[in-house]
Amino acid sequence: AAADKGGWSSFMAKEVSEEPEAVAKTVLGRISGDDIVIPELEGMDELFSGIDRVIVLACGTAYYAGLVGKYAIEKWARIPVDVELAHEFRYRDPIVDAKTLVVSISQSGETMDTLMAVKEASRLGARTLSICNTQGSTIPRESDAVVYTHAGPEVAVASTKAFVAQITALYLLALHVGRIRGSLAPEVGAEAVEQLESLPEKIQWILDNEQERTEQLARWMADTRSVLFLGRHVGYPIALEGALKLKEISYIHAEGFAAGELKHGPIALIEPGQPVFVVVPSPRGSATMHAKVVSNIEEIRARGARVIAIAEQGDSAVLPHADEVLRIPLAAPLFEPLLAVVPLHIYAMGLATAKGLDVDQPRNLAKSVTVE
Ligand code: G6P
Repeated sequence: AAADKGGWSSFMAKEVSEEPEAVAKTVLGRISGDDIVIPELEGMDELFSGIDRVIVLACGTAYYAGLVGKYAIEKWARIPVDVELAHEFRYRDPIVDAKTLVVSISQSGETMDTLMAVKEASRLGARTLSICNTQGSTIPRESDAVVYTHAGPEVAVASTKAFVAQITALYLLALHVGRIRGSLAPEVGAEAVEQLESLPEKIQWILDNEQERTEQLARWMADTRSVLFLGRHVGYPIALEGALKLKEISYIHAEGFAAGELKHGPIALIEPGQPVFVVVPSPRGSATMHAKVVSNIEEIRARGARVIAIAEQGDSAVLPHADEVLRIPLAAPLFEPLLAVVPLHIYAMGLATAKGLDVDQPRNLAKSVTVE
């Protein structure tokens, strides 16, 4: 049955192990040759052709998936994207009209804050599309269109496999809209399709090769009082997600920052022994961004930080500067978040487990918050 741990110690452990499958199933049936074809959106081109902006609305982990999605939608579909927490959107008298596409993201499809924001957007005349993991739930029913993530039922309160599926669905949507609007060069689309198709085995590689070491690292850090996470570009939302996951299930103070923001404040927090995870962008993607993040690592290390870098295999430039390096396989830059998040999910789970906590049912939290 769906609510069966299937031999795993927790639902969360099972669900992290299903991250490759969550991506694969979300892509399944939506690729035709080199093209993205989303059957649910057939005949709905007018939903995308006349829009001049996209607003992504969500809460919690789904919001961070939205932040990642912004980079892809802007890159491939060339439409300005704002990503906003659903509860903030609703009460600020938002400027929205029929040329606005509101994309909501919700694993459960029942989060009240997100539902009310979608209703408000519809009332104001926006077109609405829901990215959702639960067939027949409320938010898709209240939306003009839906793209389902096929992560399968997620039971653990802290979201993991749904997160990678949400990013995948956003990318499919970005490619679909880019094609309709003519902003996506066919060869760029073809490369993205190839990247999407190769993701599951790359995620599996991380589970097979880096999970044990990541868990061991988490065990060593069981007494840690605070952990910081840094990332840049698409790595920034991943830093936020890494911090949220740790707070949610291990009750350790954790904060994520944009690496470029370090010198504008957060560096003041660095004292000897402070653990900092750094999501390092690929040097092949952008040598400049890579160099900047490596220099951030040097800056915090000089102040005594204990640096755990998440870096692409073969990135030797980080080695001399990091205390630990967790490896991820090579991927095009926009696809790195789907890999870099995996060790962070494993780490949060490992640390909570080392502290003897119930990773599936963290205190004070609910899987689906159906009150505002
Ligand atoms: C709750 C859960 C989070 C989740 C958020 C949004 O706060 O504890 O794990 O990310 O709701 O849930 P949704 O179902 O809308 O994705």
